[in-house]
Amino acid sequence: MKQNNFYITTPIYYPSGQPHMGHAYSSILADVFARFKRNENNQVFFLTGTDEHGLKIQKAAEKSNLDPLKYCDKISKVFKDLTIKLNLSNDDFIRTTEKRHHKAVNELWDRLVKSGDIYLSKYEGWYSVSDEAYYSSDEIIEKDGKKISSFSGSPVEWVEEESFFFKLSSWQDKLLDFYEKNQKFILPISRRNEVVNFVKAGLKDLSISRTSFTWGIKVPNNDKHVIYVWLDALTNYLSAINFPNLNDDLYKNFWPASVHVIGKDILRFHAIYWPAFLLAAKIKPPNRIFGHGWILSGEEKMSKSKGNILNPLEVIDTYGIDELRYYLMKEVSHGSDGNISLKNLENCINSDLANNYGNLCQRVFSFIKNNCNNKVRKNKNKSTADDKLIEQTNELTKNLKSEMNDQNLNNYIKSVIDISFLTNKYINDEEPWKLKKNNIEKMNNILHLSLDQIAKISILLNPIIPIATSKVLKALNVNMKETNYSFLEGKNIITDEIVIKNLDILFKKIN
Ligand code: MSP
Repeated sequence: MKQNNFYITTPIYYPSGQPHMGHAYSSILADVFARFKRNENNQVFFLTGTDEHGLKIQKAAEKSNLDPLKYCDKISKVFKDLTIKLNLSNDDFIRTTEKRHHKAVNELWDRLVKSGDIYLSKYEGWYSVSDEAYYSSDEIIEKDGKKISSFSGSPVEWVEEESFFFKLSSWQDKLLDFYEKNQKFILPISRRNEVVNFVKAGLKDLSISRTSFTWGIKVPNNDKHVIYVWLDALTNYLSAINFPNLNDDLYKNFWPASVHVIGKDILRFHAIYWPAFLLAAKIKPPNRIFGHGWILSGEEKMSKSKGNILNPLEVIDTYGIDELRYYLMKEVSHGSDGNISLKNLENCINSDLANNYGNLCQRVFSFIKNNCNNKVRKNKNKSTADDKLIEQTNELTKNLKSEMNDQNLNNYIKSVIDISFLTNKYINDEEPWKLKKNNIEKMNNILHLSLDQIAKISILLNPIIPIATSKVLKALNVNMKETNYSFLEGKNIITDEIVIKNLDILFKKIN
């Protein structure tokens, strides 16, 4: 199989408060994709980190009575610890307060100056500190006597200050042309349409420096200005692979990035500003921006300011990390919002993991242990029921790679869990326990096919629930690296004669 390089990123998180389920969701989604690509034996570089400059962080530090860097050291560590709790397979964790990042931002700024895309003027308009975003007057509404952004609902304040501008307006047609030529640059399609319409309506030049506070990267040769935090933050994707050293292996192998996984609230920055900066700086834009939906609690986006946070750490301690990963990936997918609750999480664990996949593994492994001394052998004579199960499985696996490649996790998981359901049904119908005395050969075939199905399901679910599936694959003596997804092209996974190892209970049912 041809090997490719994949560079996959999560957004870098603001260390302005404790991580919540929305953060966990973004990270896990990117991790699932990274793991899938690694399992295909590709070279993968998976990045996450923290976005530490700007007024939002300066204010958060002041509130905690800490110097901004000390404050960031403390909270960035909480996010770094979360990567371990979430079982992320990230290759790096970047902080925008690191030297390597400053170097990259300075270089990008210099390139934009050289290309003639930056000029000095004055910004007069609305700014939201919590979004770190500028809004035009027609995006502002009044609620309870306060001005807020109609887009995000965040409070805005009026700003008037000297500022450097990026000539975004002159990139409008080139961006539209770029979207046209790269149909899958923004996914899902609904988000792509949203962006295209916004750009078609006209782009204004963008203020890219601030003078009213100091916590940020200074504009080269002008200490009065700090660089706008989004120009700073987006550059993390380049600094982590050692830009501006264009001869560095990481840069050569991994730029342009394969996919920036982000939430829909930060689509404008990634799908408009970022490619415009890059095109102006003569750097290729990334291949894809995937804008996922929000995790909702009731009807609202889950966020610190709304006070409706489900703490991922507490959920993991109570239910387990595979369980949370599975639930989030199944529940919120392909760009739409997902309403989550502990009740739904429990139902999902019981129906899909404990009663379906977990039960399938347990019943087959313990039957083989108790009746076959852990050993089964495949024989030639397949039954029509065997053929039917194989056919149904082939049908369900047909589009799985493309579903994953388009980040359509919802359909992907649904198909895999259907395979597990069908395999349980096959065992119920075939009743191998009735064949113990008089048809050992057929019983062996049923068990062998069941193990084969378990191996397939485990490989397919591995990027989502890596801990449980690794236990199963180990008990089947299947090496993920050697096997990868070759069974989708018809290769055998398990040997004709197989001796299984012990398998403990994978998922406890919640009562
Ligand atoms: N620092 C910026 C990203 C810079 S990337 C160059 C940022 N940080 S954030 O911490 O506010 O959000 C990080 C990610 O979490 C974003 O993709 C955001 O969409 C996502 N989520 C935050 N709350 C969310 C939900 N309630 N649901 C799903 N994801 C949401 O934005």
